[in-house]
Amino acid sequence: MVVSAHPLASAVGAEILRRGGNAVDAAVAVQFALAVVYPDAGNIGGGGFLILRLKDGTTHALDYREKAPAAAHRDMYLNGQGEVIEDLSYKGHLAAGVPGTVDGMVQVHEKYGRLPWSELVQPAVVLAATGFPLTKKEAKKLNDQRQDFVQYNTQSPEFFFQDHWREGDTLRLTDLARTLERIRDQGRAGFYEGRTADLLSAEMKRGRGIITKADLAAYRSVWRTPVTGQVGPLRVISMPPPSSGGIALIQLLTISEKYPLNAWGWNTVPSSHLMIEAERRVYADRAEHFGDADFYEVPVKGLLDTAYIRSRMRGYSPTKATSSQKVSSGTPPLPEGPHTTHYSIVDAQGNAISVTTTLNSSFGNKVVVGGAGFLLNNEMDDFSIKPGFPNSYGLVGGEANAIAPAKRMLSSMSPTILEKNGQLFMVVGAMGGSTIITTVYQIIQNVTKHGHTMQGAISAGRFHHQWKPNWVLSEWGALGFGTGLGLWLKGHKIAPAIHGIGRAAGILVLPDGRLEGGADPRGDDAAAGF
Ligand code: GLY
Repeated sequence: MVVSAHPLASAVGAEILRRGGNAVDAAVAVQFALAVVYPDAGNIGGGGFLILRLKDGTTHALDYREKAPAAAHRDMYLNGQGEVIEDLSYKGHLAAGVPGTVDGMVQVHEKYGRLPWSELVQPAVVLAATGFPLTKKEAKKLNDQRQDFVQYNTQSPEFFFQDHWREGDTLRLTDLARTLERIRDQGRAGFYEGRTADLLSAEMKRGRGIITKADLAAYRSVWRTPVTGQVGPLRVISMPPPSSGGIALIQLLTISEKYPLNAWGWNTVPSSHLMIEAERRVYADRAEHFGDADFYEVPVKGLLDTAYIRSRMRGYSPTKATSSQKVSSGTPPLPEGPHTTHYSIVDAQGNAISVTTTLNSSFGNKVVVGGAGFLLNNEMDDFSIKPGFPNSYGLVGGEANAIAPAKRMLSSMSPTILEKNGQLFMVVGAMGGSTIITTVYQIIQNVTKHGHTMQGAISAGRFHHQWKPNWVLSEWGALGFGTGLGLWLKGHKIAPAIHGIGRAAGILVLPDGRLEGGADPRGDDAAAGF
């Protein structure tokens, strides 16, 4: 089974599985297909993380997150007065980190793939070359972004050939098809060297960006050890730094385990109050302690220490919201003193892969590499560009996540696999910037504490708190009038999440061994399987 953000990408993945490919083969094919049919977040110009659990129970984490270019420096988005220059880390050429996706796909395929590489890239080549029908949501998004595309591009990308896109229009991406052909035929070299590298470097020169051919040649993704935590009967396997997601998720689930959430019920006043208060404390830790562990000593063991996690709830009152001003990060024990899309796949042998990949915001930095047809990320905005200055998600940070050459920016992406009693139980993850962690947290609680199906858990309304700003974002219907009023009386400020919170893709292994896919109704997401 494959669950992804686009029905065509899910169909590509399912077809690879039908042909005898394993979960890794399907993941590679889905990643490239999403770069065509879901250009707002599917990508080859961005990066991501993946968690792999093989049928023998071994687990692996691959970090193909973008890196700061060699010429990046800590104050690169500040003016002479030390003030942040609006949008510079968010839109246009300077916002891009060195892309990691193609190297990541090559590495995971070399180690664990079964089918030939070219067979996995070919479906994306065909989709780009022959075109595909736009969904209503995708047509609207392309129209909404038109002004930014015009402003930030140095050459007209194919998105401009039509003034107004409509549902059912065919989008043909011929430059992207040729780039994908080079990747299909030359693997890593088809992106990081030769013609694609020439085109990217020329684009940077035209737009005064700083990514060089040397940055591209030097990029390597990294195999890391997944973070794991035992929470009741569940073993949580998720992404370590430079993601904050895995650790934060384990912290949230560990805190919740001490409270009778199932007896309190789904999104009632006591259960949502407890979850909000846990989120407030966990995100305060995120702001202080998390960054790229290759550059900054993230106290991973301390942050995952059960006694430490429980101690963070000191000061918690069941009757009153805590002020975020009064909550600061904790001091975890030494020694160790740090617009996205997710897809989940399980193959017939029981191999499972959980992949979250991103350009950061929708359509990344809005720049299509001239002649190469792919969008670049705006991941530099995930660094703390000035201590305490909120990024586009309102997240703050400091030294741990300061910019440095070749450093990876902190992420919230949380590709996760759960085991129950030693067996594969759930493959899950989400898009949504800072809300990724709380989205995955709620979905797991919905299934394990409230008896939801996989689909029900993903469809259910969500809320989110991230310490700062001090409010609870809530989707319509997530909290209901009674719960909203109850939380308000405790002192919580509630704001509507007009655009929804997160989009998730999950697969649940049912007791009889069948797989249940959960595709998010907030998008065009689809499950495909056999
Ligand atoms: N770009 C969103 C994240 O990595 O958290």
